[in-house]
Amino acid sequence: MATHKLLLLPGDGIGVEVVGEVKKLLAWLEGKGLASFAIEEDLVGGAAYDDHGESISEAAMKKAAEADAIIFGSVGGPKWAGVPFDKRPEAGLLRLRKDLDLFANLRPAIVYPALADASTLKREVVEGLDILIVRELTGGTYFGEPKEIVTLESGEKRAVDTQVYTTREIKRIAEVAFELARVRRNLVHSSEKHNVMKSGLLWKEVVTELHKAKFSDVKLEHILADNCAMQLVRNPKQFDVIVTDNLFGDILSDAASMVTGSLGMLPSASLGAEINGKRHALYEPVHGSAPDIAGKGLANPIAEFGSFAMALRYSLGLGSLADALERAIARVLAEGVRTADIAAKGENAVGTAEMGKAVIGALDKELATA
Ligand code: IPM
Ligand code: MN
Repeated sequence: MATHKLLLLPGDGIGVEVVGEVKKLLAWLEGKGLASFAIEEDLVGGAAYDDHGESISEAAMKKAAEADAIIFGSVGGPKWAGVPFDKRPEAGLLRLRKDLDLFANLRPAIVYPALADASTLKREVVEGLDILIVRELTGGTYFGEPKEIVTLESGEKRAVDTQVYTTREIKRIAEVAFELARVRRNLVHSSEKHNVMKSGLLWKEVVTELHKAKFSDVKLEHILADNCAMQLVRNPKQFDVIVTDNLFGDILSDAASMVTGSLGMLPSASLGAEINGKRHALYEPVHGSAPDIAGKGLANPIAEFGSFAMALRYSLGLGSLADALERAIARVLAEGVRTADIAAKGENAVGTAEMGKAVIGALDKELATA
């Protein structure tokens, strides 16, 4: 059996608790002889800053580069509001994305049948929803230079962020989106703001050309990012795959997650290019560190479990185990197990550890019947 190299980076806040549940799952899988892991763990975010004054250490970066998959929790919190910008908790995550060239961020949003009523939208609007946001993750406003605050002669300050995209960056993310659409419902919405932004204009042009050259079998629609946000809450089921830039993708994926009922449900995979049969990959929930509930054992671990399922599928070659884990999540929800974020009024809510235990129990059943 292959031994898979994992790097666990729990980070801050509820990241520690939800990755803790994945750790239990890893031990369980090994105990059952279903998989073998070489597990390392390190600090990232505020936890790393508190330890050694940087949001991620060189040693952790090295482990990340060597891992088959990085299992990430979350970073940030009010505790680090005052730290210098380049050392803030988020910088550790951004460095991982940039240095490992994790340009393709896949953020699926699925509405589980049992949870259709947890959404703030009407059941008929969200029931059966299954969409995928493909977010460009290493370019755009997040990384464009200049990025600065300067003091003008007048004493006034001026802040600059730069939105920048090259043909190559747009092409490679659009390629991922078209390829994924082919094994889904064959529809891609490309979202930008070509009516205002040059980068949007180029984005639209490159996607159109690529579509014509290589993916004319896939249906392509262009949609302005503001309209896309509106359509996501008006009629989300019209979408299959949405491909968009780094900043719009950040915003649209938060909106998509609430359509599913809770930010605590959405997994994500950040993938690099395949080089010599290997690709760097980081798996993280879409949710943040949730400082308000951190350390209380209340967080929903499902997004972290879902992210680990994506790691099984995309990095470890364990697709059927990934399927079983996803079915286990659906089973637990169908059985009515709820953390507070997805519990209806008056419904009993369990904590992080109980939800974790329920998912592992359901996985056991899924594997027995598979
Ligand atoms: C996300 C997060 C990050 C982002 C933060 C933590 C830097 O919100 O993964 O969506 O903005 O990309
Ligand atoms: Mn975000």
